[in-house]
Amino acid sequence: MSKQQNSIIQWFDDRFPLLSTWREHLSEYYAPKNFNFWYYFGSLAVLVLVNQLITGIFLTMSYKPDASMAFASVEYIMRDVDYGWLIRYMHSTGASMFFVVVYLHMFRGMMYGSYRKPRELLWLIGMFIFFILMSLAFRGYILPWGQMSYWGAQVIVSMFGAIPYIGDTLSQMILGDFTLSDAALNRFFAYHVVTLPLLLLVLVFVHIVALHEVGSNNPDGIEIKSHLDPKTGTPADGIPFHPYYSVKDIFVVVAFLIVFCGIIFLLPNLAVISWSIIILSQLIRYKPQIISHLSGILRLIIRCLGR
Ligand code: HEM
Repeated sequence: MSKQQNSIIQWFDDRFPLLSTWREHLSEYYAPKNFNFWYYFGSLAVLVLVNQLITGIFLTMSYKPDASMAFASVEYIMRDVDYGWLIRYMHSTGASMFFVVVYLHMFRGMMYGSYRKPRELLWLIGMFIFFILMSLAFRGYILPWGQMSYWGAQVIVSMFGAIPYIGDTLSQMILGDFTLSDAALNRFFAYHVVTLPLLLLVLVFVHIVALHEVGSNNPDGIEIKSHLDPKTGTPADGIPFHPYYSVKDIFVVVAFLIVFCGIIFLLPNLAVISWSIIILSQLIRYKPQIISHLSGILRLIIRCLGR
């Protein structure tokens, strides 16, 4: 690094904890040596989150949250806006991939007991993130205001309406009206582009702060903070996150982007979310006991793979 670059960084560092944050959370943040395949999905979730935020901003520039114009504005994005189709497919595929990545991330947590002491709060924050994510995706699905959006919203909102005593009031609060109308679309838009993304960002920040407080778990369950190297005082079973894991993550990011681009350019309407919901809801309709069979199979897999 040149002397001039050094002095610029020093200038910032005297006024903002730039270098100490870098050291504490990256170059001197010790992570267990034995991370495996399952530990990639946290970083991939961050990547997908960034993709959703950036593409979402561009979509908002051309979308119209008005019941008489919403559908046409989506068509306009697909046909007339420069690279609008690409931005929209990146956003819709990103939404599906978000769930794939987060489910695998949660599966890892269940498999290796990452919800146990001292990571209970980290897990609970994660669960909160998951609920916000579901709400965010549901509201995004409504915005094109097509048949699938409209009837999807009807089904979900009527589920809230079925709650005894408070159901009707709750569904009116969700819709901002007695029926699914322009008022509801406006509300969903506000939640989808401002409230929920902000909440999600804050929660992800808190999730990482909580993770760095207790440290990462690992496939063998060793608490690396309890075995310090007597010479250096750093965890004997750990390695600095940067450059070891940051460089390793680059490879999986490239692999992920290849799959992501494959879907965007070859199968953009794959819509993992709707297919998985349709398959599962049909299975439940014809064989309700499938839920207990599926959870049994999941528990068995977790037992076999985990500790
Ligand atoms: C936007 C969604 C999320 C993002 C961006 C995110 C990000 C991350 C990152 C970067 C890590 C550290 C790297 C890793 O261990 O893979 C991590 C760890 C962790 N996350 Fe998440 N996460 C998200 C959602 C969730 C959810 C939904 C849960 C559970 C309900 C969860 C539970 C955990 C746990 C328990 C750990 C520590 C795991 C261990 O050390 O074994 N996260 N998360």
